[in-house]
Formats: sequence, structure tokens, C-alpha cells
Amino acid sequence: MPGLGAVATTLIAGVEAVKKGISQPIGSLTQMSSIRLGKRTENRYPKIKDFVPLADLNDIVFGGWDVYDDNVYQAASHAKVLDQHLLDSVREPLEAIVPMKAAFDRSFVKNLDGTHIKEFTTRLDLAQQVMADIENFKKANNCSRIVMVWCGSTEIYFEESDVHMSLAAFEQGLANNDVRIAPSMIYAYAALKLGVAFANGAPNLTVDIPAFLELAKLTNTPIAGKDFKTGQTLMKTILAPGLTARALGVKGWFSTNILGNRDGYVLDDPDNFKTKEVSKLSVLEEIFQPEINPELYGDMYHKVRINYYPPRGDNKESWDNIDIFGWLGYEMQIKINFLCRDSILAAPIVLDLALFMDLAKRANMSGIQEWLSFYLKSPQTAPGLKPEHDIFKQLIKLQNTLRHMMGEDLITHLGLDYYQELVESMQ
Ligand SMILES: NC(=O)c1ccc[n+]([C@@H]2O[C@H](COP(=O)([O-])OP(=O)(O)OC[C@H]3O[C@@H](n4cnc5c(N)ncnc54)[C@H](O)[C@@H]3O)[C@@H](O)[C@H]2O)c1
Repeated sequence: MPGLGAVATTLIAGVEAVKKGISQPIGSLTQMSSIRLGKRTENRYPKIKDFVPLADLNDIVFGGWDVYDDNVYQAASHAKVLDQHLLDSVREPLEAIVPMKAAFDRSFVKNLDGTHIKEFTTRLDLAQQVMADIENFKKANNCSRIVMVWCGSTEIYFEESDVHMSLAAFEQGLANNDVRIAPSMIYAYAALKLGVAFANGAPNLTVDIPAFLELAKLTNTPIAGKDFKTGQTLMKTILAPGLTARALGVKGWFSTNILGNRDGYVLDDPDNFKTKEVSKLSVLEEIFQPEINPELYGDMYHKVRINYYPPRGDNKESWDNIDIFGWLGYEMQIKINFLCRDSILAAPIVLDLALFMDLAKRANMSGIQEWLSFYLKSPQTAPGLKPEHDIFKQLIKLQNTLRHMMGEDLITHLGLDYYQELVESMQ
């Protein structure tokens, strides 16, 4: 993982605690959820981890890079997401994980001042150093496979330009030390070049550029992004599909947050916030589809704010005010006040993404893994396709992909094929 901050350390400490039998991996589908197979009458509901061949938690080795040199125990203590008591109970394995020096450029994250940074001549040199890190890590830890999940800070907002448009232009850009190549892209390039699956947990462009679609295809590597779906956006993609399912109109959706962790501090810079804002704003547009439903959603006003407020640390609080209207246009309001823990919601997503990306690689599924949209705020899709944000449709797609991989029937929820048979057998 590039970025051993709040999310990554909460994941690592959590997995160690689960391995010791002192905690449960709540929120992780791969560890906790079951999946229905066949008809409802068959009563087959295995756990996902027993149905598809996923890596076992005991076989995972964690490693990463950061611009600060704190080991994972120190970084997790600093992040203050988990109780010190829990961290102390897994102190030894956490202390053993020391970050590698980061590929970093402060112009992409102004609010960070770490000095645990690689020196380099060109960005190509930097990418080669990251590739060497990956290979050394693999050898030193005797790993058979590697997956990379970006857990680093959100970089400033920028749009793709000619250097991102083809692999040849990108490689030329690396050699020319082109400043439009962000650090996250250096890691992604290194990973894809080595055939290592890459998932992006932040809203940065990173792998969402044509150059990387090309590289992923060339090296037969899965990619996914972007931005872990936690907190307020998770709630939006649960609630909004319900409103639109009942043809209820929405006039406005105002969302505000207070957040006091390092992520919040980075997002306090307007250029970094812009990246997050774009990712958060797209969700409702694509669920409500105002162009198809202008009477219900044509005039919707959507506003998202994030305010850095240190006293709260990682315990974010969000408020949503939703102005809806029903029969004959009569107005109603919904208020949501979510006292959430950002990294507690994000950690299981990193675990599931890593395990499923590893599975995808072994299943020969390369390129964009749209079936993992379930975990992402701004899912990457093939050029020209709109992402699916409705969490329930995303779940059906994820489960059907697993069924498909394992040669089971896909579930359409039609049921007519066996319903009559069942009714008759009960008479
Ligand atoms: N927590 C959530 O619910 C959530 C949800 C969606 C997305 N995210 C994203 O996940 C990322 C991690 O979140 P977090 O709360 O752990 O943040 P964090 O600030 O605690 O950790 C990020 C870490 O990345 C490091 N970093 C930055 N640039 C780097 C680079 N180039 N190479 C290596 N390390 C680098 C920072 O030093 C920091 O330690 C952020 O981009 C955040 O926006 C988090």
C-alpha cells in the first residue's frame, strides 16, 4: 500500500487482531457475508470465502510506502482510530512493518511535510525504484503474488492531458520528468508493468487514464478505482436508489462534514478538496438520471462541503438535508446525522479489494474490474460508459460475477421458473 496512514494501519492492525481471535472482520464481505446459490428452495448459502478461492488472512504479508518513517504501530497510534489497548495487543507485528521511502512530489499534496522520500533524477528513475521495492519485498517475504491498493493522500485536482493519453506518451513523459505525472501514477505504472493488480482508494485520476488501460491490457492486469465508498456517500447510494425506486422527487441535497484526521487536513487545501468534490458530486446525478427523469430530478441542487475540524480526529460527523417531494408535489424533508468512523468503514474495503483483485488476476480478468464498483465512490468504467452507483445493483453484479467465475447459475430474482412448481408441491 502506498500510504500507511489511518486507513492502511487500521486494516493491518485489524487483520492482526482477527488472526489472534480477539476481533471480528465486520464490514468485510469476503470474510463475513454469504452468497445465495441456485434457487431459493435449494437453501445453499455458503460464506463467500468458502465459495471462491481467496487468499487466507494468515497468508497475507502487508507492506507499504509513506512520506513519514513511522512504523505501523506508531502510525496507527498517531491516527487514533483504534484503542491503544487493541494496538498494544498486536504491537509486535505492527512494529515490524516499516514504510519504504515514498515516491512523492509536494506540489500534489501541499499539506504534507514528510521527508522519508526517494531522491530521483527523472520520474522514470522513480518508477524503477518502486519496481525494485516491489520485487525486493516479494523476495524478502517469500510472496507468490502481490496486489497494490493506493491508500495515500488525495492529490490535487487535475484533468488528463496528452501525456496520459497513450502508453508511449506516458513513458516518454516519465523519461522527460513531465510534471503532469502524479506520484500515484508512478506507483500504478510500476505495479502494472510488473503485472501487479492496482486498486485506487483515493479520488485521484491515477489508473483512470488511457495509458494505463493500454498497459493493463498489455500485462494482463486488473485495475479498479476510484475512492473508497464510505461514510456520507455510502449513505447516499443506499438512500437515493430507494427514493428513485418509489418515483419520489428531490429538490435539493445538502451534505456537510466535519473531519479532523490527516486526510481532513490534506482536503483543507482547495485544490485537493476539488478532487474529492468531483468524486462525491457525480453519485446523485447518475442514480437519479435527471435527463431521463426531468420532472423528478431536473432542478435538483446538490452541494457537498468538508470542513477540517481537528477535535474530531477520525470520528467524522456528517449532516445531510434532503428536500424531497411526493404526490402532487407536496414537500417533505429527510435529515441524516451520521456519526461515522471513516477508517473503520474503509479498512474492510481495502481488504476485500485486495482479495478480489488477486482473485481477478488469477481468473485472467484484466483491465477495469467494474464488478468491484460496490466499493468505490466514483467507479472507473470503460470510456463512454456511465458508472453504476446504486449499491444494490452493484452488489448483484459483484455476486453474479463470483457465481459466473465458479460456474454457478446467475441469479435474476425472477423465480417464475420454479415458483409454480413450489406452490403445487405444497398443496
Ligand atoms: N477513510 C475513508 O473513509 C476514506 C474514504 C474514501 C477515500 N479515502 C482516501 O483514502 C486515502 C487514505 O486515507 P487516510 O484516512 O488513511 O489518510 P491519511 O492521511 O491518514 O493517510 C494517507 C497517508 O499517505 C501518505 N502519502 C501521501 N502521499 C504519498 C505518496 N506519494 N507515497 C506514499 N505515501 C504517501 C501520507 O503521508 C499519509 O500517511 C485518502 O486519499 C483518502 O481520501 C479514505
